[in-house]
Amino acid sequence: MERTDPTDPTDPTDPTDPTDPTDSTDDFIVLDGVEKVFDVRRKTGFLRRERREVRAVDGISFSVPRGEMVGYIGPNGAGKSTTIKMLTGILTPSGGRLRVAGIEPARERTRLARRIGVVFGQRTTLWWDLPLIDSYRLMHRMYRIPDARFRANLDRCVELLDLGALLDVPVRQLSLGQRMRGDIAAALLHDPDVLYLDKPTIGLDVISKAKVRGFLRDLNAESGTTVLLTTHDLQDIEQLCKRVMVIDHGRLMYDGALAGLHEIGESERTLVVDFEHELPEVSVAGARVVRVEGPRQWLAFPAAASAAPLVTELASAYPVVDLSVREPDIEAVIAQMYADRSALG
Ligand SMILES: Nc1ncnc2c1ncn2[C@@H]1O[C@H](COP(=O)(O)OP(=O)(O)OP(=O)(O)O)[C@@H](O)[C@H]1O
Ligand SMILES: [Mg+2]
Repeated sequence: MERTDPTDPTDPTDPTDPTDPTDSTDDFIVLDGVEKVFDVRRKTGFLRRERREVRAVDGISFSVPRGEMVGYIGPNGAGKSTTIKMLTGILTPSGGRLRVAGIEPARERTRLARRIGVVFGQRTTLWWDLPLIDSYRLMHRMYRIPDARFRANLDRCVELLDLGALLDVPVRQLSLGQRMRGDIAAALLHDPDVLYLDKPTIGLDVISKAKVRGFLRDLNAESGTTVLLTTHDLQDIEQLCKRVMVIDHGRLMYDGALAGLHEIGESERTLVVDFEHELPEVSVAGARVVRVEGPRQWLAFPAAASAAPLVTELASAYPVVDLSVREPDIEAVIAQMYADRSALG
């Protein structure tokens, strides 16, 4: 069950939840050596079972200041969803320290639920058989959202996410893109300070993706909502996040500017050179030929190096007709990172 449970009637906190004195601006989300170990039991024979530990999250530390929109990426099984589940309080960490808005998620899940919104792209938090608007009305009551605020937030989401014509449609009749927009609105009706998005654009067509991205960009810019975004679509990151964290096998491999990803993993740029005629593989210092096709050759060189000396040397030694530099794209860089890691064992 991944829906946060804001319905606890014993919850004594005021729904308007005044800012926690400990929730400083710089460390709005804080993880310090966070671990999650799953105990997996597997049947291996007639009466035999094997017990195995899966270290889904293996000592992760980072902090996110209020208002930032951060990408959290990594291959299948890297530990992204597990991290998000710990950040919502659904899962309790096996070790380390975790705070969101000064709250320890697993211990004060209900109090935290008022401050966060969650969208799991692969499952809906909406009631399948009810018209969209009925799900929103239920959330209105569950979260005890003040009427005026609910109205204002709903109106805004309906307008910006283009939900007007969909409110009376049962959720199961919505297309994936429509349903996703409905889910994003549902996560925002109670004005959360933090929004966790776990693959919000998965399976969406180009137009739906653009709509979702545009909405998230405006939300972050206008409402200052802190956003942690998990995705396999690097265009989401390119278009939305200045900062990206890369996780693999439960460990943080990179945390920094998107642009910096190009410089890690020994990433390379490529010089594509057209010669007057076919040539044997050319030889220049600081680059190596990686491909030859007729009179065209591809030379790889370190991304951090300048292309100018290469160009000069090539042009003085060979009959160069044309050349261009190709930047590595993030997908290639990340693929390279993973390849390098597995090569190292
Ligand atoms: N409840 C669980 N019990 C046992 N193992 C689990 C459980 N949840 C996750 N795992 C394991 O923990 C690891 C991390 O899983 P997680 O779902 O966090 O990955 P992910 O980065 O979200 O991957 P994906 O991109 O495929 O969504 C995987 O090896 C997964 O099999
Ligand atoms: Mg996942």
